[in-house]
Amino acid sequence: MGKNKTQFVCQQCGASFTKWAGKCSNCGEWNTLVEQTVMPEAEKKSALAKGQASGKKLAYESIRAIEPSDVKERLKTEFKDLNMVLGGGILLGSVSLLSGQPGIGKSTILMQICAEVAKTRKVLYISGEESAGQVKLRAKRLGANADNLCFASSTSGNDIAKTIESAEFDLVIVDSIQTLSLAEITSAPGTVSQVTNCGNLIIRAAKATDTAVVIVGHVTKEGTLAGPKVLEHLVDVVLNFEGDRYGGFKTVRAVKNRFGGTNEVAIFEMGEKGLMEVQNPSAALLAERQNTDGSIILATLEGARPILVEIQALVTPSNFGYPKRTASGFDLNRLNLLIAVIERRTKLRLNDKDVFINVVGGLKLNDSAADLAVCLAIASASAGRKLSEEYVVFGEVGLGGEVRSAFRADQRVAEAKKLGFKHAIAPRTNAGKDNFITPVKDLRETLIKYVK
Ligand code: TYD
Ligand code: MG
Repeated sequence: MGKNKTQFVCQQCGASFTKWAGKCSNCGEWNTLVEQTVMPEAEKKSALAKGQASGKKLAYESIRAIEPSDVKERLKTEFKDLNMVLGGGILLGSVSLLSGQPGIGKSTILMQICAEVAKTRKVLYISGEESAGQVKLRAKRLGANADNLCFASSTSGNDIAKTIESAEFDLVIVDSIQTLSLAEITSAPGTVSQVTNCGNLIIRAAKATDTAVVIVGHVTKEGTLAGPKVLEHLVDVVLNFEGDRYGGFKTVRAVKNRFGGTNEVAIFEMGEKGLMEVQNPSAALLAERQNTDGSIILATLEGARPILVEIQALVTPSNFGYPKRTASGFDLNRLNLLIAVIERRTKLRLNDKDVFINVVGGLKLNDSAADLAVCLAIASASAGRKLSEEYVVFGEVGLGGEVRSAFRADQRVAEAKKLGFKHAIAPRTNAGKDNFITPVKDLRETLIKYVK
């Protein structure tokens, strides 16, 4: 028998091609062609020509009658918050995907997790990127030294799946999916077909043997999982590792979790001995603060967790006709929108000013209630006036300049109180009974009251 015939099928529109291409010439989508084996024409015809469903009726039962399957054991990591993100630990038989930029610390955190789990269970760390010597160097630094912590170097999806099937290990780390390939597929490692097929094989092996597997996936600059976006649908848990590569806080959050919630977040800092959880991020973030103009403390939420973070703005005259706007840790489109709202709804003029926004500590804000703090920071920097140290700020700003309510205001207020703040400039709809919130209605009123 000759080699199985394959074709490349666009996952978007279904068009098929004999050769792989980066772009589907039928629908114009990029990176959607996947190699598939061709079903012989005759077989296809006989299956479909009947025009009748060939399957059999499903056996169903009332959901009330179904016994919940045993909750499997969870492997605890040494990180309290990370366990929470995972819904209590890494579930046996689950497959998780840890994604993040190169150099953020994926291999480091996984080695630390392995070291902890290996105290009681057998763990295998498979690397397709680094040699045994390199991994040993890192393990030594992290104090990972258990007998039960094993290492293998491999880039073969087939071999790795076979190893997992042996059921020798309770936890297997695959670092990273982009380096793996299957012997049956000709395309290069990291392509969609390799990633999906390797992923599928590994997932099947993990489920069959109740092995917990963590797969590493690199992301591109734009933040999408390079190649294996498809993998997100196949795995049980998707963890995102975000933050600055050089210093600052790094966060791990679950964007998908079949066995737990997705609103917890773990905050880490890279130290000499690997990653450490930051216990009180607000205090750490505010420790080096200097109260200057353009500096505003925002009461924000990272997942379900309230955090106080400093937002800094710098407003300078533009040198060339076109004003420049830069944001680090804050969405640039949102910044442009807020500047437009300020220009239109208040008397502040920014059309000949460069505006820079910085969120201190490497956090990436994803909270609509950051709007008011950003606007106040810009106004404060522009006027050269600082806000009293007693204030925290939160609230969403609408296109009409109105200040809209923020969710979980009481948690934000509680965190601010804990750190010794006296007032919150916040939407009037969030105002409570104790006068901690000094309510504001719209942007214009806020700027007149606090920075003029
Ligand atoms: P790494 O975990 O290899 O990143 P990834 O697997 O996500 O690509 O390493 C992240 C960086 O952390 C690396 O540049 C070296 C640094 N680092 C420390 O600062 N301290 C340590 O203890 C370790 C192990 C690494
Ligand atoms: Mg790595």
